[in-house]
Amino acid sequence: MLNRLEDSHGRKINYLRISVTDRCNQRCKYCMPESGIGKLNHMEILRNEEIISFVKVAAEQGIDKIRITGGEPLVKKGILDLISGIKKIDGIKEIGLTTNGQLLKEFAFDLKSAGINRINVSLDSLNPEKYRYMTRGGVLAKVLNGITKATEAGLTPIKVNTVLIGGFNDNEINDFMTFAKKNNIIWRLIELMPIGEVSNWSNMNYIDGATLLNNHPELTNITKSSLEKDKTFYNKNLDISIKLINSLTGKFCESCNRIRLTSDGKLKPCLHSNIEYDIKPFLNDLDKMTEFYKEIIIKKPKEHKLDSDDFTPINRNMNKIGG
Ligand code: GTP
Ligand code: 5AD
Ligand code: SF4
Repeated sequence: MLNRLEDSHGRKINYLRISVTDRCNQRCKYCMPESGIGKLNHMEILRNEEIISFVKVAAEQGIDKIRITGGEPLVKKGILDLISGIKKIDGIKEIGLTTNGQLLKEFAFDLKSAGINRINVSLDSLNPEKYRYMTRGGVLAKVLNGITKATEAGLTPIKVNTVLIGGFNDNEINDFMTFAKKNNIIWRLIELMPIGEVSNWSNMNYIDGATLLNNHPELTNITKSSLEKDKTFYNKNLDISIKLINSLTGKFCESCNRIRLTSDGKLKPCLHSNIEYDIKPFLNDLDKMTEFYKEIIIKKPKEHKLDSDDFTPINRNMNKIGG
């Protein structure tokens, strides 16, 4: 029988984010060092079968939504087999994937066939030069062609994630809204979070997204609750809704329904905490894995401490967490 596992704060945990690789074909400035990353030992990385075994355990405990992340998930060998394996697991209702879009054109139809329901695409500038600068070499046209192909393949609704970076893309709000209307996508502006590489960035790079959007007279904030992760603004000129994830200035921990698995087999109950648990010792005994999983869920932290004076930024770079 399916358990709807709750943590000790009454939150039902039904959403598992799986970072399938920490490798990437880009080097976004807020995500990875310029020199790239040391290659993880082959033995440390979970194999597809191991991920699938874990998802079976988690699905029996109430996980029904999966998001595949990275690094860049589309550079992982065997990614389509992994997706079809997860798709077959009883109880899994939705599989999403978050990608930088560089390989999306080539993968779109295969992702749909393998079982991906919808995709989110990271895109921080609509200007090719700025895009190349922030990603350290990415090609904007590939992302745009990828979005077109993904739309044809039915990986919809497509969400575009734009990390708001003061002095870089805060002047592109209108361009993104027009882009969203034209391409029928849901555009999300995400406040920059101080994780890994970004922790030492200047204060001017961190912007309050709601204040920025409230300065647009065509936008009305129609968010129902501050506990929603995605706040909604209606644009009356374009007749579209756009979203803001105010990870920095807001706090939506009370409604958190998620847990993360990293490519080296660590379960992370909270994005902003260094606490993580190794699942590898339990891969040969799934009953023990079930007990271990339940214990971790019970221990999920109540909230992040981003706003406290003694907050310590987490060590992992974003490419080793997957957002
Ligand atoms: P949807 O299913 O489409 O809602 O996907 P998602 O928003 O869960 O996933 P995505 O990978 O597109 O992440 C979008 C942004 O939300 C990223 O910047 C994530 O870091 C951020 N995000 C995801 N989960 C959390 C969370 O638990 N806490 C915070 N603060 N931010 C999160
Ligand atoms: N702050 C906010 N969002 C981030 N992402 C990566 N690093 C950060 C950060 N420091 C976003 C990516 C991707 C999503 C999974 O997380 O742009 O869309
Ligand atoms: Fe790669 Fe995404 Fe990190 Fe950019 S943000 S380096 S695309 S994993």
